[in-house]
Amino acid sequence: MSQIDDALKQRFGPDTPSTPDILGQYEFPVQLASRRSHRQFKPDPLDPELVHSLCALAMCAPAKSDLQQRDIVIVEDPDQRAKLLEIIPGNAWMETAPAFLVFCANNRRQRQLNEWRGPPFVNDHLDAFFNASVDAGIALATFMMAAESVGLGCCPVSAIRNESQKVSDLLGLPDHVFAVVGMALGWPEQEGWISMRLPLAATVHTNRFSEEGLSDRIDAYDQARAKVHSYSSQRNVEEFGQAEFYGWSEDKARQYAHPDRADFGDFIRAKGFNLS
Ligand SMILES: Cc1cc2nc3c(=O)[nH]c(=O)nc-3n(C[C@H](O)[C@H](O)[C@H](O)COP(=O)(O)O)c2cc1C
Repeated sequence: MSQIDDALKQRFGPDTPSTPDILGQYEFPVQLASRRSHRQFKPDPLDPELVHSLCALAMCAPAKSDLQQRDIVIVEDPDQRAKLLEIIPGNAWMETAPAFLVFCANNRRQRQLNEWRGPPFVNDHLDAFFNASVDAGIALATFMMAAESVGLGCCPVSAIRNESQKVSDLLGLPDHVFAVVGMALGWPEQEGWISMRLPLAATVHTNRFSEEGLSDRIDAYDQARAKVHSYSSQRNVEEFGQAEFYGWSEDKARQYAHPDRADFGDFIRAKGFNLS
């Protein structure tokens, strides 16, 4: 079996159809198929020029209407890093990362262009928030693909949005600029593992969206995933009890039985966005 087919079967299950030969002939699709997040890093420092060059590659990503509404903050200063960790306790693994970056949505620059050039900015509605957020997400994904293609390990960190205001203050983010996601970066300490995804029959639709057989597919996914990589502990046992079988869907249901970042909308509005 080709490397890519092997990786995709590990990812989506043994019934995954084989890929056309062309995908196995290039290194990048094979790497993408077997990628994984890393949360433990070797202590080796990272060349700041390498990090800057990876930022350049991230900024090669497409952006909505060429508006380029995303920025990256490289948190190099050890004091800043320490303060960031203090703001989001419970993420001690981040300490081992030789580099940490924050991907930001920036709708401010567009407003500045309108101010400086004269035509009025008349798109003060939800789309302004949404477009900049999507651009930041695309830059994050592109950065990760570039970094992983040279053997670096990454882990995105949305936990920074648990304390959006504090992170914003620490990084000096002005109105209409906000942190979307952080990213830990370094040379991986461990190999890691391929995390199974939902079957493509549940997530890739042809012509029309369909939820046919979804519940059964998720049950099967839970079982298959638990055989390869089961959860080491269960969430909120005091509230929901000890489940006899604890799969992905139970974990995600328990995770979202608790409010998380319920103040994010208020924070974004306070940043000057009109979300209507
Ligand atoms: C936007 C985004 C935010 C994430 N935030 C966190 C985080 O705060 N902490 C963490 O440990 N992992 C975080 N992750 C990593 C996911 O948990 C990980 O991608 C997922 O479990 C699948 O594993 P894999 O990347 O190894 O395939 C994040 C991933 C994304 C895309």
